[in-house]
Amino acid sequence: MAFPTEDGLVQATDDVSFHVDLGETLAIVGESGSGKSVSSMAIMGLHNPKTAKISGQVLITSMGSTTDVVSASSETVRKLRGGTVSMIFQDPMSALHPYFTIGNQVSEAWLLHNDGTKEDARKKSIEMLDLVGISDAKNRFDSYPHQFSGGMRQRVMIAMALVNHPKILIADEPTTALDVTVQAQILKLLKDMQKEFNMAVILITHDMGVVAEVADRINVMYAGRLVEEGQVDEIYKNPVHPYTIGLLQSVPRVDQIRGTRLKAIPGQPPSLISLPGGCAFEPRCEFAKYVPDNRCKSTRPEVEIKLAGHQARCHLSAQEVRSHL
Ligand SMILES: Nc1ncnc2c1ncn2[C@@H]1O[C@H](COP(=O)(O)OP(=O)(O)OP(=O)(O)O)[C@@H](O)[C@H]1O
Ligand code: SF4
Ligand SMILES: [Mg+2]
Repeated sequence: MAFPTEDGLVQATDDVSFHVDLGETLAIVGESGSGKSVSSMAIMGLHNPKTAKISGQVLITSMGSTTDVVSASSETVRKLRGGTVSMIFQDPMSALHPYFTIGNQVSEAWLLHNDGTKEDARKKSIEMLDLVGISDAKNRFDSYPHQFSGGMRQRVMIAMALVNHPKILIADEPTTALDVTVQAQILKLLKDMQKEFNMAVILITHDMGVVAEVADRINVMYAGRLVEEGQVDEIYKNPVHPYTIGLLQSVPRVDQIRGTRLKAIPGQPPSLISLPGGCAFEPRCEFAKYVPDNRCKSTRPEVEIKLAGHQARCHLSAQEVRSHL
């Protein structure tokens, strides 16, 4: 996906390919600006065709039929959104309308996709609010968002996203605005709901700790490109892309002494308007010196299988990277 701007073409994502199955959680991780949200907007068909140029396909298969969100009519995409595919965001306050009661907002989400009366919608919404842990949901139905805490508002957002039993749930930084205890509760709720509805969950985060807790697979993105993909356990044990190695070194470990500073990856991501011709990570990569003929500067690496079920975009083999750790 690219955005034409006055300064030039912003290549927000390029050559990004991923899939997620029912019942599975795929985490998309990467620094700010790496293209995580832009990718999820494309899945939801939320890109503005006037400002975004999108090429490729976003295929959603549900009940035996496959839809390409990129080429489908806006009517088809509207039906998918909030029905088969749903999304929750980092900040529930910006997604909930302050002037409408929470019950009203969950009901509206249901009425958009179902033929039923207001009374049916009320019943469904109360059931859903109850399921996501809003106590006394019947009476809280008529409360306004500001009468709820941050964690409760996030629960309402989850109820809204799930009221139509979606097959795919995209959660874009769903817990970053919450304190640690509430974060853990919301992550647990998402896991429980995933089991309940057998959903595919795409979790967008820059928090590798959250990933370790809830994801089955990880896609690591850097400068709009996929750089490493594999099962969570495998990537934590054997990261093979220098960027992922850097990300993991910046995560505190249980055995780490309290107060030790996390290791940040030195440098900044490149401008998406003038990406380096070779590897986008080259200016920050400590391993580039091991690749002969300056190939990291001149040649763009392709995604390759490095270990069983584990691929990465780097000129070095898994063994070469590990020998220099
Ligand atoms: N409408 C737009 N016009 C121009 N550039 C855009 C537009 N939308 C996004 N971008 C650019 O695309 C890149 C990817 O943005 P995206 O929001 O996907 O990042 P992100 O990985 O979600 O970051 P964060 O962790 O901060 O949420 C950014 O550099 C952003 O500036
Ligand atoms: S291709 Fe080169 S610069 Fe890019 S990650 Fe691998 S070693 Fe580093
Ligand atoms: Mg984002």
